[in-house]
Amino acid sequence: MRKKIIAGNWKMNKSFDEGMALVSELSNMIKDEYHGSAEVVIIPPSLYINSISRMTADFANISSGAQNCSNHSSGAYTGEISASMVKSCGGKYIIIGHSERRQYFGETNDWLAKKVDAVLTESLNPIYCVGETLEERESNVHFNVLKAQISEGLFHLSAEQMANVVVAYEPVWAIGTGKTASTEQAQEVHAFIRNLLREKYNETVADHLTIQYGGSVKADNAVELFSAPDIDGALVGGAALQSRSFADIVKAMA
Ligand code: PGA
Repeated sequence: MRKKIIAGNWKMNKSFDEGMALVSELSNMIKDEYHGSAEVVIIPPSLYINSISRMTADFANISSGAQNCSNHSSGAYTGEISASMVKSCGGKYIIIGHSERRQYFGETNDWLAKKVDAVLTESLNPIYCVGETLEERESNVHFNVLKAQISEGLFHLSAEQMANVVVAYEPVWAIGTGKTASTEQAQEVHAFIRNLLREKYNETVADHLTIQYGGSVKADNAVELFSAPDIDGALVGGAALQSRSFADIVKAMA
């Protein structure tokens, strides 16, 4: 069976103390209320990864990760963080190509392909984000956009490497807007992505790939989204900033 993953991306939110309080509440809620098979991934600002990975070390289904990393492994790149640094702090996942990185920091598919390599070199798992803008959906080019993001960012990988990749479909128009894609719209894209993998690699690779949905996921739409056959979890932004709302999304998977 495919791995189910619920990840909470805090973006640039929470002081250190607020973050630690959130993790402690959340891990207790998950321990008490949830005994499912989904992996819960906490993705705070990178400064907090080390503390969070220590705090959650006893929770087998909770891990942590970073929101971005450099494509370089080390060197004179002021302000950057490498995948090996994330690993040395206990992180396991790294989000690559979030639409905010693509939009505000000019990250291109070619550049992201190198970041994916950097993550895999450290035996960590990239969460590779794809998604179309509203304009692209309305002009009906969204499948072309998604195909380019997937093929240019990932198709240089071997089938063996693909086994460690997670894909997140996040329509840009649904991020932070309160507008979720309908379950039908999300399922359609997830099946499309899985089919691209089937054509490029094989049935096993396609079938094994965890594809998360992201964009205004809340506890009250999560149950329906998770009922779709190709939706294997969520990448959560706003609702991950409170323990109750995030824990309820985790419960929705159970
Ligand atoms: P949102 O963010 O849940 O606040 O829409 C999702 C994301 O950006 O990953």
